[in-house]
Amino acid sequence: MKAFVYRGPGRSGVEDRPRPEIEGPGDAIVKMVKTTLCGTDLHILKGDVATCAPGRILGHEGIGTIAALGPAVSTFHEGDRVLISCISSCGTCGYCRRGMYSHCTTGGWILGNEIDGTQAEYVRIPHAETSLYPIPKGADEEAMVMLSDILPTGFECGVLNGKVAPGARLAIVGAGPIGLAALLTAQLYSPAEIIMIDLDDNRLAMARTFGATQTVNSTDGKAAAAVKALTGGLGVDTAIEAVGIGATFQLCQDIVSPGGVIANIGVHGEKVDLHLEKLWSQNITITTRLVDAVTTPMLLKTMQSGKIDPTRLITHHFTFDHILDAYETFANAARTKALKVIITA
Ligand SMILES: NC(=O)c1ccc[n+]([C@@H]2O[C@H](COP(=O)([O-])OP(=O)(O)OC[C@H]3O[C@@H](n4cnc5c(N)ncnc54)[C@H](O)[C@@H]3O)[C@@H](O)[C@H]2O)c1
Ligand SMILES: [Zn+2]
Ligand SMILES: [Zn+2]
Repeated sequence: MKAFVYRGPGRSGVEDRPRPEIEGPGDAIVKMVKTTLCGTDLHILKGDVATCAPGRILGHEGIGTIAALGPAVSTFHEGDRVLISCISSCGTCGYCRRGMYSHCTTGGWILGNEIDGTQAEYVRIPHAETSLYPIPKGADEEAMVMLSDILPTGFECGVLNGKVAPGARLAIVGAGPIGLAALLTAQLYSPAEIIMIDLDDNRLAMARTFGATQTVNSTDGKAAAAVKALTGGLGVDTAIEAVGIGATFQLCQDIVSPGGVIANIGVHGEKVDLHLEKLWSQNITITTRLVDAVTTPMLLKTMQSGKIDPTRLITHHFTFDHILDAYETFANAARTKALKVIITA
């Protein structure tokens, strides 16, 4: 089968690989129907993600059809249409029992990282019963792809950890797919202000159509002053970091108001400064989280009811034969205006 493979920092390509087979009783083999690319895949390609070894098939998102099942899987059947969670969870270990699937002792974020992923014709999903979701009849399958990772990530790591509340002032640094997913799901809690910050005017314009009340282009290095000006000098109750670099984590430290929360989402490849000499007295909370994808069923229902429409994040379509073009388009988003790209088998 054809698969997109990480070969080491700056090197990748499409290779012929053997089809995956059932290895454990709880496994499923899924024939991929639609997948997508994530900002985290770009981090891996740069060499930022130490757990992902050269030779790995990338991809942790998508939907497909069950092609084979291990003997312990009883809730799915061959031919079922399923949503693949980016997080594999056994459902029974101590972390899973606490709803922290991201740290499942035999799962977590392994797909397209520690085991081969979804950017291929077939993928093996361990712990299939608790890591796959049935796709409801009539559901928009491209919208479902947004549920594998970006919607739960923006919601859990950004909105829930950031304690977004009615009337709150919220800033989201980074208007990529993850920042925009946080923007979409933050509105379930009716914050008063949502200030979106990015370097890219196209993404900021998009953010306005998605419900941002204010946008700030931070190219001039004066975003902190702009946010202070927009909030009567107070700063924000919640600052969501959705980029993954030191400069944007710094900006969050500069704009969080006393008692506020900095909710980090970004995957950081390098060490970052924490200014406790300024923040020690500010009663703030800093949170980090690897998405647990524990809100996937709730978000699915919210999506089905029309309360959130993630298809607005999809800008481009490719067939799997053109996955290299898809990467090229996705990696040059400022020029191509790409957000999420759908790759169909
Ligand atoms: N915590 C988790 O579980 C989890 C899960 C998925 C993704 N992530 C991470 O979330 C982050 C965002 O993902 P994405 O797919 O939206 O990435 P992306 O690269 O598409 O978007 C990042 C955005 O940040 C903007 N940006 C870059 N530098 C900036 C700066 N100095 N100031 C302001 N804006 C700046 C870019 O213009 C871009 O719009 C990534 O680091 C990704 O790895 C984390
Ligand atoms: Zn991802
Ligand atoms: Zn577990």
